[in-house]
Amino acid sequence: MNLPTEIRATLAELEAERHPDAEEDVHFTRGLARTVIETLTAPGELVLDPFAGFGTTLEVAHELGRPAVGVELLPERVATIRARVPGAVVIEGDARGLRDLTDLAAGSVALALTSPPWMTANDHPANPLTAYERDDGDYRTYLRDLTAVAGQVRDLLRPGGHLALDLADIRHEGEVTPLIADVTAAVSGVLDHGRTVPIVWDRLPHDLVSNRLVVFSRSS
Ligand SMILES: C[S@@+](CC[C@H](N)C(=O)[O-])C[C@H]1O[C@@H](n2cnc3c(N)ncnc32)[C@H](O)[C@@H]1O
Repeated sequence: MNLPTEIRATLAELEAERHPDAEEDVHFTRGLARTVIETLTAPGELVLDPFAGFGTTLEVAHELGRPAVGVELLPERVATIRARVPGAVVIEGDARGLRDLTDLAAGSVALALTSPPWMTANDHPANPLTAYERDDGDYRTYLRDLTAVAGQVRDLLRPGGHLALDLADIRHEGEVTPLIADVTAAVSGVLDHGRTVPIVWDRLPHDLVSNRLVVFSRSS
């Protein structure tokens, strides 16, 4: 896995690229997506984003000659991606049911690259996996659900394929949630943990303590 030892990003770059409707939950740059897609896939190989957001992964994959498929819960974001990247396939739905949403063949995906919705362990009633629209949030359930999505991604990955997650430790109300370590430990139950690459910001976005790209692989 020839990923660099760190990936650099700037707040100015993020703010310039961020879709006008995006709130502060988007911390994902085109440069990050380009580095990961170019390093971990070849042209023609399929890229998946199960939490597609405003479509950064899909747009960059398409520009680089990789077919791209995304899943996104919110209809207005699905419409945004379809307008932004007409060449990508975008499925409106809940990634927790990924298995039943796509007709992708098992073993057809080379890379799943995503910035999943994040959560703090304290004071966070909104459930990230409902796009923060329901107040039944629970940190253990969140980790379990995210791992279940990763398990379904695993079935779609080809042997040697990768799942790359953009994760951050977050400070909220004076407490830091070690989301990077918690998600890494949980997802390691379904995929092999390969690399954790620091994402180095010139200025860290609001509330972030550290930001990492955590890369898992399917060994067989
Ligand atoms: C952090 S954003 C992704 C941002 C994206 N990387 C970008 O650059 O635009 C996470 C996305 O996951 C979506 N989401 C949350 N829960 C979901 C679920 N259960 N299934 C599918 N998408 C979901 C949210 O609506 C949000 O758009």
